[in-house]
Amino acid sequence: MNRRSYVWPALMLFATVFYHSNYVRAQTESTSEQYPAVVHLTAEQDHQRMMDLLHIDSIRRGRDGSPDSPYAANYDESKANPYPSLPNPLILNNGKSVKTAKVWWSERRPEIVEAFDREIYGRVPASTPKVTWEVISTKNTTYGTTPVVTKSLLGHVDNSSYPLIHVDIQLELTTPANAKGRVPVIMELSFPNSRPARAGVPAPPPPPPGPSWQQQLLDRGWGYATLIPVSIQADNGTGLTEGIIGLCNKGQPRKLDDWGALRAWAWGASRALDYFETDSSVDARQVGIEGHSRYGKAALVTMAYDQRFAIAYISSSGEAGAKLSRRNWGEVVENVAGTSEYHWMAGNFLKYAGPLHWTDLPVDAHELVALCAPRPVFIGGGATQGDGWADARGTFMAEVAAGPVYRLLGKHDLGTTEFPAMETPLINGDLAFRQHSGGHTPVPNWPTFITFASRYLHAPAAGA
Ligand code: GCU
Repeated sequence: MNRRSYVWPALMLFATVFYHSNYVRAQTESTSEQYPAVVHLTAEQDHQRMMDLLHIDSIRRGRDGSPDSPYAANYDESKANPYPSLPNPLILNNGKSVKTAKVWWSERRPEIVEAFDREIYGRVPASTPKVTWEVISTKNTTYGTTPVVTKSLLGHVDNSSYPLIHVDIQLELTTPANAKGRVPVIMELSFPNSRPARAGVPAPPPPPPGPSWQQQLLDRGWGYATLIPVSIQADNGTGLTEGIIGLCNKGQPRKLDDWGALRAWAWGASRALDYFETDSSVDARQVGIEGHSRYGKAALVTMAYDQRFAIAYISSSGEAGAKLSRRNWGEVVENVAGTSEYHWMAGNFLKYAGPLHWTDLPVDAHELVALCAPRPVFIGGGATQGDGWADARGTFMAEVAAGPVYRLLGKHDLGTTEFPAMETPLINGDLAFRQHSGGHTPVPNWPTFITFASRYLHAPAAGA
């Protein structure tokens, strides 16, 4: 072979190696570009990241449950209302007042939604992945003495846009086996196991004797469902790059107005309602939502944002729920802005714990209740002794202040502005309230809620 004869093979070899190495690099790059790794931050790191984005150095410290702490929560009514004037739900941002239902729906309500989205609970992404519901099992059994059908379901969230995160929503539905048609259903946002302990706060009292809430619903010919919020989104800051929020963000940390866990849980509740619309045992126009404590907050957010829910029972929802944030009682804004609870909210919420204050909040809890109008809402809470942290009176005050919106829409408000005596049900309007004498538990108010709900929800008539 002469020298020349080496040139072409050598060139070919070089070209092949060059091509392949580039090909491999391009492939690797496109995989990592398409699926960046999940970012893992501690809640403290993620919280600091939010503060940096907000350009704030520090936020004020929250209150303590323990009365001996120098930061003890306030339980003195004379100090409870430092900012008695609330944003008016019926005044537009341009200062004009809302006089008609039309202006409420087309202008004012969207303004309030926008404020909650941007500053308080965060925005749900414009497009969220599809959920495919799978019935894992269907069991014919009895609850107490009632024959029932119980379905266990998983809502598989489409993760084709980011296969590194899996979300399977856990839902269980129980309906009376002998129903004469589609039944009303109350869905609870449920704690998976036992309730988390709260520092300085007594454990929930044992349930009083009497039928469980499930039995009480079945006795009316209604069904019940339980949804597990933490199967949608973890209940901590470190989980914000996973779950549905992480899936939508492809494993990256949130922007300041991205949704927090409360809206993620509410989104999951809406997906459960999508399923009920396809299940012939359920009357999807008669589905209610119930939650207690952090899930009371989530139930209220669900009801406010998804107008398909027919009724709500909001139990001991406290701060970031139905309690006015302008109230100085029990838990306050600063607690929710702290590292163990900020993940419920949008990052923007942190700034109201410093440098801004409660009075700077563009909206308050009465406007979240108002977003539920004209649909019926029952709000409950316990006595200060045992449930003071959740501020039953502060939630009552929010309901009173939501009244004008209900009236504008032709509905009835609470019927009073006076805080009622313990265990006095206010259930004649479309807004309802009762404070029970027990501690931090939804149990004592279930019978009153069901009496209230029975004005709106109806089991199928025999022979229907
Ligand atoms: C904590 C938190 C409350 C919340 C409660 C619960 O106490 O501060 O906001 O409602 O946990 O969910 O039990």
